Formats: sequence, structure tokens, C-alpha cells
Amino acid sequence: MAKPNAPFLWVAVLTWLFLAGEALAAKHEFEITIEEAVVEVAPGLKYKVFAFNGQVPGPLIHVKEGDDLTVHVINNTSLAHTIHWHGVYQKNNWRNDGVPAITQEAIEPGESFTYHLKADKPGTLWYHCHVNVNEHVGVRGMWGPLIVDPKKPTRLEKKVTREAIMMLSSWESVYAEKFGEGGGPKDLADYFSINAHSFPLTQPIRLKEGDVLRVRFIGAGKEIHAMHSHGHDMLITHKDGLPLPKPYAVDTILIGPGERYDAIIMADNPGRFIFHDHVDPHVTNGGKYPGGAITIVEYEGVDRDDSWYVWKDKKYESDFFFGDSMEKGYGLFEQAVFKGEPLDARDRRRRR
Ligand code: CU
Ligand code: CU
Ligand code: CU
Repeated sequence: MAKPNAPFLWVAVLTWLFLAGEALAAKHEFEITIEEAVVEVAPGLKYKVFAFNGQVPGPLIHVKEGDDLTVHVINNTSLAHTIHWHGVYQKNNWRNDGVPAITQEAIEPGESFTYHLKADKPGTLWYHCHVNVNEHVGVRGMWGPLIVDPKKPTRLEKKVTREAIMMLSSWESVYAEKFGEGGGPKDLADYFSINAHSFPLTQPIRLKEGDVLRVRFIGAGKEIHAMHSHGHDMLITHKDGLPLPKPYAVDTILIGPGERYDAIIMADNPGRFIFHDHVDPHVTNGGKYPGGAITIVEYEGVDRDDSWYVWKDKKYESDFFFGDSMEKGYGLFEQAVFKGEPLDARDRRRRR
């Protein structure tokens, strides 16, 4: 029997693997419009924003490592914008990096731009405008989560039963009504939020005993946050999307601007526990405690009917931390809970 030609066989096998990999890479096509809207950040604070698909945070984009994305962006606002895909390597693709005057011209009002990119970096990423970032990212809500599932998940992440994304940012009430201003070095933030809401307008994280919760923290604004979980340690497993060689346990984690940390929390302590920013001014609204970046972990089976419990009568929105959306598979998913009130044409005319 003739011996098989070993080098030829290898080339054939590698070519097949490469082609199979390319065929497996899904292609996604999304449309994102940028709208002027008003969101209620805190009781008494309504804020004018540039909202991706009318919501803050922007819609969840959830894909798999290696997928190809085509994103049509339509600017329906009165100022120019772009979208930068924070974390994506853009290999041989730098013109899709979304930075005005460096990789493209900004998308002017009424115009559109199409981005083509490959989800080459896995993990917790995000997208944001890159025009006048101090204002547009700092105080106008121009950010959303981009979650790229890795081809090879770690043993621990396979055990996750519930996901929670927390985008942390701040607001300057003096600029609530003034498009085109805010976020300068001399400007003081006086409202602080998780997913664009300040306590008590945030939502609880509901768990059942035995759940493995993965919290993805994203530093979306200009402040440094120190998120502290009462009653539970957090195992920090990923930084900026990448798995850490040695995950470490903490009960407080610092999250700076642009940073992402993934934390695993074992739901092994039934009860009701606050989960909050430990930078003390960050738990105030306009200088008054309690407010800001506070949520509460509520276990299933623990009664919420204490007469004095602050969220005794809370209307529960189960997708506030993108948990429901993360279970829907791959695609772009909007969250009704984050939709703003569209600014009407009359209001736009008055401003011009
Ligand atoms: Cu912008
Ligand atoms: Cu960035
Ligand atoms: Cu505390």
C-alpha cells in the first residue's frame, strides 16, 4: 500500500479547518440610529441625551468571537458623532475604529456611516461615541455594551446562571438641558448611576440560592468607582475582556474610566444585601444620601414585605442589568426599560 503524502495531508487538513472556521463565523447586520431624547436619571433629574436607538445605555450587542459585523449608523441629532468599538483590534481595518479626524470624518447631522468589523477580541467590550468625548460620553449617555463570547470559555464562566451588566457613569445637573456643553475638567458631577439610573430608580438584582452571577462592570464615564458587594465576595475573573491567569477574590473593586472587570458571585447567602459604590459622594443625588450607584441583591424566598423596606413596593424590571437580553442568543437587543422620551421637533427648532 502506498504511504500517504504526509505534508500534503497536513495542508489539506489545515485548509479545511480554516475554511470551516470562516464558514462558522456568523455575519450580523445591525442598524443604529442616534436620537435626541430625555431620560429620567434620578427623581427630579431629567437629562437631554444622544441616545443609541433612543435608549441609554445603548442596545446590547452580543456576538461570538470571530463574527463579522456590519453596522449602519444614522445620525438623527443636531451634532456630529461616531462610534468607536472599544477593545476591538481592527486588524487591517483601522478605518473602522470610529475616531474623527484620525480614522474618518465625523457623521454629521442627517448623515450616516457604515462600520465593518470583526469581533476579534472576546469578552466584555463596549461601544461609545468618539466626538467631544468629555460631553458625549461623559454626560450624554453615548455608550452601550458589546459582549463577545469567547471561542474557548473558561471552566468557571461555563457555570454562570445569570448575567448582570453594570455601566457606571455620572451626570452634571447644570448641563441637563444644554446640548453642546458639559464634562469639562472644572465641571463637578452631582449625580451617579448604574445603567443611567440613580437609586432609587435603579433596580434590584434578583437571585436564587445556588445561582452563579456574573457581573460585568464597565467604567463608562469620567469617575472612578469602587463597587462593594455586601455579604459576598466577588471573584475577579477577567480584566478588559481577557481572562486573568489567577482570578482573585475581593469585596470591593475599583473601576476606572474605560476599564472592565468581570466578577463571579456565588449566591450562597440568602437575604437582602446592598451593592454600592464606596466612593461616598457617589451614593448621593444632588448632594443628598441615599442615591447614586446603589442596587440591592434580593434572594428568591426572602420576603420583601417589611413595612420599612425601601423597595417594598418596587416595580421590578427584570432586564435592567441586561440579564434577560443576554439569554436571547446573538444579535442586537433593545431594552424597553432604557428608552428615553423622544425630543419633539418643536423643541429642536426652539434650540436652533
Ligand atoms: Cu457624539
Ligand atoms: Cu473607549
Ligand atoms: Cu456598605
